This record gives sequence, structure tokens and C-alpha cells, in this order.
Amino acid sequence: MHIQKESGMKKCVLVSGGAGFIGSHVSVELIEAGYDVIVADNLSNCDLSGVEGVKKITGKEDLPFVKMDFCDAEAAMRLFREHRIDAVIHFAGFKAVGESVGEPLKYYRNNLESFINVIEAARANGCRNILFSSSATVYGEPDSLPVTEASPRKEATSPYGNTKQMCEDILRDSVKAYEDLRGIALRYFNPIGAHPSALIGELPRGVPNNLVPFITQTAIGRRECLSIFGNDYPTPDGTCQRDFIDIVDLARAHVFAVRRMLDGRMTEAYEIYNIGTGTPLSVMQLVNAFQEATGVALNYRFTPRRPGDVTAIWADPAKANRELGWKAERDIRDTLAAAWAWEKHLAGKD
Ligand code: UD1
Repeated sequence: MHIQKESGMKKCVLVSGGAGFIGSHVSVELIEAGYDVIVADNLSNCDLSGVEGVKKITGKEDLPFVKMDFCDAEAAMRLFREHRIDAVIHFAGFKAVGESVGEPLKYYRNNLESFINVIEAARANGCRNILFSSSATVYGEPDSLPVTEASPRKEATSPYGNTKQMCEDILRDSVKAYEDLRGIALRYFNPIGAHPSALIGELPRGVPNNLVPFITQTAIGRRECLSIFGNDYPTPDGTCQRDFIDIVDLARAHVFAVRRMLDGRMTEAYEIYNIGTGTPLSVMQLVNAFQEATGVALNYRFTPRRPGDVTAIWADPAKANRELGWKAERDIRDTLAAAWAWEKHLAGKD
């Protein structure tokens, strides 16, 4: 799937939370597709290495970076006033499911306030196009699989998940009320991997909660043993099933979505897309694929289920395939090899 490069006057996309895992990969793809990008981040959960990596990969040494917190309404307003921004992709937010259960108000204040400020500042300064990074977590434990965008949202099991639902609603209602706005929510399944250059990737703080960072840290010896949470689920091999999607594939979906907005091709003012592969993989299958892709034998054991985990979820990505013209393409082994190359890069062992 070739991404056509933009021609003519360059459009400018603001990437809030652009120094993080998903934001940095999205910035690379936008720049390579010919967009001007402004990265803004408060660096509360990452450092500047993501931005440096984006510069190296794209050769764009003068990539604008603004250190700011979108909870500061005046700062958000200033940013939109001082730059001609055609579209904003909003990633800035807290994302640790477990932490959100213990500190719900921190999550509600940060994730809702920052998004409201972004929408207000965009509107006030003539930026009509808003893309929100949502999550498959909004589907909860689905009644039937795969899930389509029309599948019902379930009551969130964590404040983090609830902020994803609430931000979707904030965008939907804003678009409905203010005729000048358009919105897209992308519901990500399980983004994994790293850029093939190994210059950007995931940088978990402390003990990783997510599966792939835990796998790569175990493989390199930073963790003793991977716990596979539950092998008694009603799935073919007893472990949970997910839709693991390559981070570069996922990042490219944003280019297609932004282009659809900026070209005025949206058929509704607020659109939702599942961003997944459509293929389920179990935790055990993923562990085996990692071992095959890297040749590294992984130390793992089965432990009890993790509270709050859903048994199985995967996407029906047909709407994104059809309307955005986007499709996940990378082979899972290449994705896992990239995650491993990134871990080795971090360890300085490559
Ligand atoms: C979680 C969040 C999701 C968020 C996503 C970000 C929930 C319920 N899930 O998804 O909202 O968008 O992270 O990436 O809020 N596993 C192990 N051992 C480990 C770690 C994980 O066996 O050490 C298993 C889990 O039980 C699960 C699978 O691996 O079955 C994937 O886990 P994880 O990477 O944490 O993602 P999700 O929980 O699916």
C-alpha cells in the first residue's frame, strides 16, 4: 500500500502527545507523506528521544517541538493562534489502566480537560479537523466477534477506558453542535512493534503492563520470567486472543484519516474506524511467533488470570479498508523482530 505524497501547499498537522510511542510513529508517517508537523508534549511520560528519533528517520532536523501541557487552556489557545494548524491528532493523555483505577480523578481531569482545551482552541482559531486516538477498550467484552464500529460500547471497566468513551462523546457532541468541526475517532486494537530503523519505539516506565514490552524485556534479561495471565480461557489454546497491530501500520492509518478529513471526503461529520488487522492471535501464539522471529527462547510460565482482561477481541477493519483505503500489511514476525531490535537498541547491544 503506497502512500501518495502530498503536493501543493503543505498542510500542517499538530500532534499532541507526539513525543510518545504512537505519536512519534505517526509524526514520521505524516512527515514522509508530505505534511508539516508540529509536535507538542509535556514530556510527563516520555523524554525527548522520541522527537530526536523522528528527526533522524525523516531528516527533518527543524521539526517544531513545543513543550506544553494541554490542560493549560491559555497555552493551547496560544499554540493554535501562533501557528496555522489544519488538523490536530490528539494523543496527549494518561494511559495506565491500573493507575487509573487508583487515581480516577487524575485521569478524568487530565484526559478530559486536555481534549476539551484542544477542541476549544482549534475552533477558536479556525482549525476544523480533529482526530482522536481511541481504543478497542470501549467495546469491553464483546458479545460477538469480530467487532465492527456498530458493535455496542460496553460499560468501561476502568477510569482510563471511561475517558476514552467520554472523549469520543465529547468529540461527537462537539461536531454535532458546531457546524464548523469535523471529527474522526480511531479505535486502536493492540499496537505493538517499533519503527524498522529501531530509532523509535515503546519506552515503558517501570515494569511494563503490556505484553510485548514485557516479552522483549524478559528476552534481554531485564525481567526474569514472563507471566502469561491465564491459560483456562474458553479460546483454542486457553490464552486470551487479541488483534496485535504493527505500530507503523497503525501510524499510517492516521495519514489516510487526516487526508480524508483535509480533502473534504468525509461522508459524516463524525466518523469512527477500527484500526486492527482483523486476525486474532492468542497470547501463546504471540509468544511462539516471537521465539520463531528472533530465535530467542523465552522464559515464561502460566499464572492466574489478570483481573479486568477480556477473553478475546479482534477487529473487523472492513470500514477502514474501504473508506480510508488503508490496510494493515506487516507480518507479525517482522513486527516482533522490530520490537526486539528496539529492545536491543535500548540495551546498547546492537
Ligand atoms: C490494554 C488495555 C487497552 C489499551 C492497551 C494499550 C484494557 C482492558 N486494556 O489492552 O485499553 O489500549 O492495553 O496497549 O484496558 N499479558 C500477559 N502477560 C503480561 C502482559 C499481558 O499474559 O505480562 C496478556 C494479557 O492478559 C492480555 C494480553 O496479554 O491477554 C494483552 O495484554 P496488554 O498488552 O496489556 O493489552 P490489553 O490488556 O489487551
